[in-house]
Amino acid sequence: MLHAILALLADGQFHSGEKLGEQLGVSRAAIWKSLQRLEEQGFPIHRVRGKGYRIPTGAVLLNSDAIQASLEPSLSEHWEWHLRQQIDSTNAEAQRLVAEAGVRRLVVVAEQQTAGRGRRGRAWSSPFGQNLYMSFVEPVSGGAQGLEGLSLVVGLTLVQALEACGYHGCGLKWPNDVLLNGAKLAGVLLEISGDLTADAVVVIGVGVNVLMDADESIDQQWTSLHRSGQKGVLDRNHLISVFAERLAGSLAVFSREGFSAFRQEWQDYDAWRSAEVRVVSGSNVLAGRSLGVSAQGALRLLTESGEIDVSGGEVSLRLGHAS
Ligand code: BTN
Repeated sequence: MLHAILALLADGQFHSGEKLGEQLGVSRAAIWKSLQRLEEQGFPIHRVRGKGYRIPTGAVLLNSDAIQASLEPSLSEHWEWHLRQQIDSTNAEAQRLVAEAGVRRLVVVAEQQTAGRGRRGRAWSSPFGQNLYMSFVEPVSGGAQGLEGLSLVVGLTLVQALEACGYHGCGLKWPNDVLLNGAKLAGVLLEISGDLTADAVVVIGVGVNVLMDADESIDQQWTSLHRSGQKGVLDRNHLISVFAERLAGSLAVFSREGFSAFRQEWQDYDAWRSAEVRVVSGSNVLAGRSLGVSAQGALRLLTESGEIDVSGGEVSLRLGHAS
């Protein structure tokens, strides 16, 4: 029923409750109840007295058949797809699925996360029906050290997928934040489990703000595709399939050639290249000029005592520093 209502509203125009009821063979009250339920969960629905209801273009529910149908045929069996309406975290669910039934390529996507995880123990805001929350499981052999640089590749792949969907001007902030107009649009969280010296499994978690317009709980500058005002794709099913297709290609290249194959492209999108930055890693704080990334994906930092490669940490701009 919800899918049917949303399919009728997918044109972004106003529809009266009466007309919707007629089209679906249910009462106006049933339509009202369904829309109310969605709205309570945070799904964007506009109501105007005398006109009815409308939803912003692209605000359609996730549908794994629609996602798979738009994947190129060679990828139709590449992953096992799992769609959840509500889950603690798609990364956690992906890890559970692997623990229960063994390592294989799978994807978990969800309408809502109740305990979305960000990097460095932060929470990731995950309201119902508005953004992308997805986790891809990729088996890896040869030890975890080969994975340095993978999270940068995922961020790069996402920027390129967004470009293909009509969003321009995205940049990367090391290691893998995606920025648009200087604010955070998307984040990547890699979690590795299994034997870190031999066969392991990496869960690639990706969150993209798509339709979200307001969230007072986020303590950093953020944006969404809708907020950007650009006229790109907002249909989340389509965004997922475009990203998934590109990710499959990137993972294949990464497993053969490592990060060095992506280094130049990553640097082309580096939002803070040559900027004066601070890198906080535990109790360690480093300051210097960002010189781009090494062939392994480390941040190259020119400090007062020379150039060093930084492998982990949180980077911020040194505001007010004369460059
Ligand atoms: C960051 O802090 O920048 C990383 C955010 C990663 C969020 C995504 S949403 C899908 C997946 N599941 C999670 O719990 N986190 C990641």
